[in-house]
Amino acid sequence: MRVTPWKMADSGQVETAAVVAAIRASLARLTGGPRLTAVMARSVLKNWVEVPKTGVLIAKAPGGRVHGVLVMRKEPDPDAVRVVYICGQPPRSGAGAALLAELVTVSRKRGMKEIRARCNPDDPSHLGFFLDHGNFAAVGPPVQGSSMLELEVRRVLMEEPSETS
Ligand SMILES: CC(C)(COP(=O)(O)OP(=O)(O)OC[C@H]1O[C@@H](n2cnc3c(N)ncnc32)[C@H](O)[C@@H]1OP(=O)(O)O)[C@@H](O)C(=O)NCCC(=O)NCCS
Repeated sequence: MRVTPWKMADSGQVETAAVVAAIRASLARLTGGPRLTAVMARSVLKNWVEVPKTGVLIAKAPGGRVHGVLVMRKEPDPDAVRVVYICGQPPRSGAGAALLAELVTVSRKRGMKEIRARCNPDDPSHLGFFLDHGNFAAVGPPVQGSSMLELEVRRVLMEEPSETS
């Protein structure tokens, strides 16, 4: 799985459609509701990337097929970056892990001290991915968000040995 930075403005229609399709399918899994239309999913993505200090990584299989998307944003808090959204399609194909590994590498290079995310404590894939696999820890108790129970989690990079040490 190859992970690269991605910009909506610089991307062709076919790749943008693939990125939107991955988000569209995974949002339905996240909310448990019906799929958004492609137009709505595209507008969700556009709203995310229009916010300043937001970047996107995509994960592609060797054939070039898009398998995952990560939307990240620098926090107002110094030295912290937030996972606004992450998805892997199909589930459990390694895209989420590849995206997170790249985010950790990029964040370390930029001197970020921690990565934050909000996950659903009732969703085993979130607990398995963020807490068990991703080395995140809960910050406080879960709170009711707009569409689901949300657990704020963080991974403190400065407490980890870097890859080069
Ligand atoms: C959470 C999510 C991003 C994980 O991505 P993924 O590509 O499926 O994850 P990976 O295949 O890289 O899995 C990495 C590890 O995470 C853990 N994991 C992933 N899915 C899991 C599940 N359903 N149950 C338990 N652990 C899981 C495992 O440790 C896994 O390693 P393994 O497969 O070798 O056991 C994915 O489930 C998803 O897209 N969900 C819908 C969107 C969403 O909820 N996003 C998060 C909110 S922002």
